[in-house]
Amino acid sequence: MPMCRIFAATFKKGKVSPILKIGLKRLEYGGYDSAGMATINNGHLEIKKGVGKIDEVDKQVNFESLEGRTGIAHNRWATHGYPSVTNAHPLTDCTGNIAVVHNGVIENFLELKADLIEKGHEFKSRTDTEVVAHLIEDEIKSGKDFVDACLKAVKKVEGSYALAIIYSKEPDKIVLVKKESPLYLGIGSDGNFASSDPVAFVDRTNLMIPLEDYELAVITPYDHKIYSLKTETEITRKPVQIDIKPQMIEKGGYPHFMLKEIFEQPTSLYYAINIQKPYLEAISELMNRSKVNFLVGAGTSYHSCLAGSYMYSKIAGLATIPVVASEFIQQYGNTLDPDTSLLLVSQSGETADVLKVASYARMKASTVMALTNVVSSTITRLSRLYLVQQAGPEIGVAATKTYTSQLLIHLLLALEIGKRREKISENEINEYYSKIRSIPKIAESVLKDTDQKIKEVAEMLKDSSHIFYLGRGINTATAFEGRLKMLEIAYIPSSAFSAGESKHGPIALIEKNTPVIFIAPNDSSRKVILGNIMEIKSRGGKIITLGNAEDKELKDVSDVYIGMPESEDIITPILYVLPLQLLAYYTAVLKGLDPDKPRNLAKSVTVE
Ligand code: F6R
Repeated sequence: MPMCRIFAATFKKGKVSPILKIGLKRLEYGGYDSAGMATINNGHLEIKKGVGKIDEVDKQVNFESLEGRTGIAHNRWATHGYPSVTNAHPLTDCTGNIAVVHNGVIENFLELKADLIEKGHEFKSRTDTEVVAHLIEDEIKSGKDFVDACLKAVKKVEGSYALAIIYSKEPDKIVLVKKESPLYLGIGSDGNFASSDPVAFVDRTNLMIPLEDYELAVITPYDHKIYSLKTETEITRKPVQIDIKPQMIEKGGYPHFMLKEIFEQPTSLYYAINIQKPYLEAISELMNRSKVNFLVGAGTSYHSCLAGSYMYSKIAGLATIPVVASEFIQQYGNTLDPDTSLLLVSQSGETADVLKVASYARMKASTVMALTNVVSSTITRLSRLYLVQQAGPEIGVAATKTYTSQLLIHLLLALEIGKRREKISENEINEYYSKIRSIPKIAESVLKDTDQKIKEVAEMLKDSSHIFYLGRGINTATAFEGRLKMLEIAYIPSSAFSAGESKHGPIALIEKNTPVIFIAPNDSSRKVILGNIMEIKSRGGKIITLGNAEDKELKDVSDVYIGMPESEDIITPILYVLPLQLLAYYTAVLKGLDPDKPRNLAKSVTVE
């Protein structure tokens, strides 16, 4: 199951179910239409599962009533088979001795299932995952031990998977297998863990081992072993330190992670400014040397690429092509060669479309580099060089703090490249740096100063049937990002255009009181955008403008005016997106929605 999350643990003593439940809650950002847990108690599997968010399922089944020291758990986000109790994980074989949880997609499951049915297996669910349990059952029947049976069974499976498997006859073992879906081992003193995301076990151990593709691991309460699926030999790998502190994943007094993360931006921006200099320099060097530079990302990360392309052009005179990851191979795949560089931007480092571009570009011998927020993510292993944005874990499904960090890092890269290309003097660089260093403080005051006003705007907009976002130049990206936040969190249909495009179609939709949000800082496009505002105003649109606090002319033509501090034009996207994030958040809350868990979405999209 693609955007699900899995968690497994085995202890020397004590009950595993309460720990699994805590872990599941932390992983809930990854999928939440059903959840389940299986433990081994006195040589028997015990399973509880249900439909809904973790707390809802827990109310129905009481996860903690499960006994046993070893168990696996799962948050599901449905793809194969609708959300139902039977389709929820863990899934079992015919004997009820083997239980499996899975994140990924088994591409050949229909063929495998047909074969298994032919052999007499009975399927209970409509999932692709259940075939794994039956395949293992067959291998055990033919005389193999549990680990060997898993190894042989998984080799028949095509597709992507992070699997955790338990077998009631070998009750101390959990088998983990990875291909293309994230999976981490946690090495503790009172037991061992495995999860799609180390946040699940971060309070139990600070040591982890990221598994690589085609690896199978076995954990017991006392040790762990890793094997190559291809060679079937043992691999030794040292654990690494986990860089997430438990208190960082709590809400810190905010009602939602999203709001906490919005208000964390002064800090995350500060960390972005202090990013690892040697890597910044090395990436700048490679971008500067390449004949063609692509910036690739999905969703919000793509928007940072779009804004970045204006920065590289303006500061460094470097043309970069921002491309949506899912389109990249079709649109530009055939142009890739060793003189081409790609900077892949992905908060999670796990977005399937981005990873696919990485593998494809490597095959073409292009230079693959990455900007990510997750140190041990897959993208870091596919890239020649990568930068970690150090924004801290982002739990809310909507990207907020990681977006502004990405923008800031593009800016730092643009300055480095500008220096190499002698497009910018040492003096100018120093001036930019002193402005950049003031960004965290300015961001803090923007959040504080606009918060109340934005709540009022949210009240005004919450029943709108459509909202427009218009910006120009680099703030076209801000318009796109503001719109994405509003529609994904508050479910209000919204459109965004570069303001110049509004006359070429979108203006047809403007009626009396249609809300139109203009991003209009005091930059070279301000005059033209004023013209666009007048066009919309004369057709009855309700004008909500984000502009310089001192700009009286703009203020006078607007119905609502959000005053912003004066700043350098290429810094404005970092500041102007802040009120738009708040606007989406407060609108969602006013509509009674949970902004941390928008319907149908997952934090990282690990399938194409
Ligand atoms: C929007 C959002 C998504 C992500 C997109 C890419 O708020 O969060 O659009 O930006 O799924 O994710 P990453 O950056 O992890 O590759």
